[in-house]
Amino acid sequence: MIAITGAGGKTGRALVQALARRSAQARAVVRSMAGSALLRSLGAADVVQAEFDDVARLASSFAGVEVVYHICPNMHPAEPEIAARVVEAAQLAGVSRIVYHSVLHPQVEAMPHHWQKMRVEELLFTTGLDYTILQPTAYMQNLLAYMPAICAEGVYRVPYAGHTRIGMVDLEDVVAAAARVLTEAGHEGAIYELANGEAFTQAEVTQRLADALDRPLRFDSVPRADWAVNARANGLPTYAVTTLLRMFEYYEMYGFWGNATVLAGLLGRPPATLNSWLLRSRGELCR
Ligand SMILES: NC(=O)c1ccc[n+]([C@@H]2O[C@H](COP(=O)([O-])OP(=O)(O)OC[C@H]3O[C@@H](n4cnc5c(N)ncnc54)[C@H](OP(=O)(O)O)[C@@H]3O)[C@@H](O)[C@H]2O)c1
Repeated sequence: MIAITGAGGKTGRALVQALARRSAQARAVVRSMAGSALLRSLGAADVVQAEFDDVARLASSFAGVEVVYHICPNMHPAEPEIAARVVEAAQLAGVSRIVYHSVLHPQVEAMPHHWQKMRVEELLFTTGLDYTILQPTAYMQNLLAYMPAICAEGVYRVPYAGHTRIGMVDLEDVVAAAARVLTEAGHEGAIYELANGEAFTQAEVTQRLADALDRPLRFDSVPRADWAVNARANGLPTYAVTTLLRMFEYYEMYGFWGNATVLAGLLGRPPATLNSWLLRSRGELCR
């Protein structure tokens, strides 16, 4: 049995499906049971409720589990503390292996959520557990958040400049690689960067979106101060707003992309390109 923490989010749901495709038994560990029917329909053998601050309950959710796949909620200010409790619970439950969903370039201190993941990776070196660390770059699926403005206004609007180079990875490739790592021996002690090797400017992304949608599309860089006002008005917590602002600044200054070799090796084929993902997803972009 494989336990997945943070299983109700987009990464967790996709991983549940990828494991079901390999006929592996997955137990989804969630904060709220509201999504349990969906998780079961995606292939979860089991759905159990446990909060990240309740070590005893986490430990009982790991009973009979061989490996824990730990996904921390996105932009959580207490990511290292959460990971420490997940590790403690795994040890209490007698689980000897953990796979951690990190991020590409956790070494970047200028991006606080990356640096938090670096601290978790450092912790894993010291636990005595067999660990594997996966470091995906930004998902192509993040583009779906921009679709309302793209489809309604014909504008691809992001809070960084058009020259910003970002390489995105298909979440389906990330979870296919994760499912392989979870269901095979031989990945202990590994740290895998998961990227597809592309690094497009936002002008290039705009062109690819326009081609896929077969409509003219304009690029617009929204000032970060305006983005922050809007994000706060929409209820995004302060830590997430300030952290995302620092991420956007970093992206604009240095870009963010990675090499495809490791992911291609894990998949046994080249990873999806932005064009191939857009082609596959065309039906869900503008409904
Ligand atoms: N998105 C990317 O491009 C990307 C790239 C690389 C790495 N990552 C990493 O992937 C991880 C997951 O990201 P995601 O986008 O899949 O997340 P997500 O869709 O936002 O899912 C987060 C999940 O965590 C749960 N959650 C939120 N706050 C919680 C809390 N305080 N206690 C317990 N559960 C809580 C949510 O539960 P509810 O459904 O109940 O709200 C949701 O199921 C993050 O660590 C992120 O840094 C993301």
